[in-house]
Amino acid sequence: MEQPLFRHNRPGRCVTFVEYRAEGGFAALEKALAGMSPNDVQQVVIDSGLRGRGGAGFPTGKKWSFVPRDIPGPRYLICNCDEMEPGTYKDRVLLEANPYSLVEGMTLAAYAIGVAHAFIFIRRGYEEAAENCRRAIAEAKAAGLLGENILGTGFSLELDVHQSAGRYICGEETALMNALEGKRANPRAKPPFPAVKGLWGRPTVVNNVETLANIPAIVANGAAWFKGLARIPEAAGMKLFCVSGHVNNTACFELPLGMTLGEIIDGPCGGMLPGREFKACIPGGASTPFFTKAHWNVPMDFDTVAKAGSRLGTGGIVVFDQNTCMVAATLNLVAFYARESCGWCTPCREGLPFVQDVLARIEAGEGREEHIGILREHVQYLNYAFCPLAPGAMGPVEGLLRLFEDEIREHIVLGRCPLGGK
Ligand code: NAI
Repeated sequence: MEQPLFRHNRPGRCVTFVEYRAEGGFAALEKALAGMSPNDVQQVVIDSGLRGRGGAGFPTGKKWSFVPRDIPGPRYLICNCDEMEPGTYKDRVLLEANPYSLVEGMTLAAYAIGVAHAFIFIRRGYEEAAENCRRAIAEAKAAGLLGENILGTGFSLELDVHQSAGRYICGEETALMNALEGKRANPRAKPPFPAVKGLWGRPTVVNNVETLANIPAIVANGAAWFKGLARIPEAAGMKLFCVSGHVNNTACFELPLGMTLGEIIDGPCGGMLPGREFKACIPGGASTPFFTKAHWNVPMDFDTVAKAGSRLGTGGIVVFDQNTCMVAATLNLVAFYARESCGWCTPCREGLPFVQDVLARIEAGEGREEHIGILREHVQYLNYAFCPLAPGAMGPVEGLLRLFEDEIREHIVLGRCPLGGK
């Protein structure tokens, strides 16, 4: 199985610049700068079908194409590495093993979009990943692959690492840009989308780490090759799935998009822990509605997972066994989002603590039948929040109501958690 992202990985340590170069690293950049126009690079990314790996799955090349090229002044590229979705740790794993694919991918993206200054916005706490990025930037600069007049072509790119002050909302792309500008990290209204009006009011592309790290292999091997990596024709490429919970192997795997949930759990994850049965999972990070055994054969790609009632999201799979209380699991997630609300808009600031309180009452055996309707209403109300944080928080609540209403009711009827609150 080809693994464009993990193919340079070394057990227990980061690949070195020399090793990455020896294995064909930066050859895609050399190829692009020698014989491809910026538009050619953008076109191969469009044709590859690459979709954003940060969670939304927006087509990457299409996003680049929204950047106006005909107005004077700077444009910016930002790598969003403010990875903080509970259950998601793929970008950390990627950067601790290999920061070079990201640096090369960002240089290619900057060339395609016409960017002279790019930023890696990285989560506070990802110290090793940030250090790797700084080292990779210095090494690429010393080798003439970054900085002024790259490979003597006249194309120049300045690349800076910026560490976040450390709040979940900073990962929302418009809050991220406010943070980068030194302002309080409140989200901005969209539209205008960053591609048109972003950092310091200028056209800005914000792409996830995994998205950008895929670009060198796409440029080197072509669009058809990338498409062919997926298991099903509707999808394109590989995906990092980072798995946690009640399985034997909890790790980050690079797998073809379109593998079924069951194949992922029984294959690389080594099945459920001894004596445990699969009850449910979060399929793609904490904002995605649960999957159950009924979803075992769903191919894991953006469109199929959406059709099955959830989202592929970040590919962060959290597996729950038969003893997991789904009310407690949902409460745990909602408590995170309530804590991380930036407080800017009322539905989120007031709504999330309220939903947390209702779930806590049900879990504590103090629930009433009307609480089910109240939760259902709030799944609707919180869609009116200013940014996707609150609607995302209600993803698992919606899944709980749709798939586990009986389990909620059991709490209410028994006046306690039937599973002991695990
Ligand atoms: P979105 O769907 O609003 O936008 C996705 C991207 O496409 C953005 O960059 C946006 O600017 C761009 N875009 C969309 N429509 C556009 C248009 N008409 N013109 C130009 N650009 C356009 O989704 P959003 O809010 O950026 O991301 C939500 C996702 O983030 C969720 O699905 C969740 O899975 C994920 N997420 C990931 C986290 C992590 O730690 N990796 C943390 C929290 C959420």
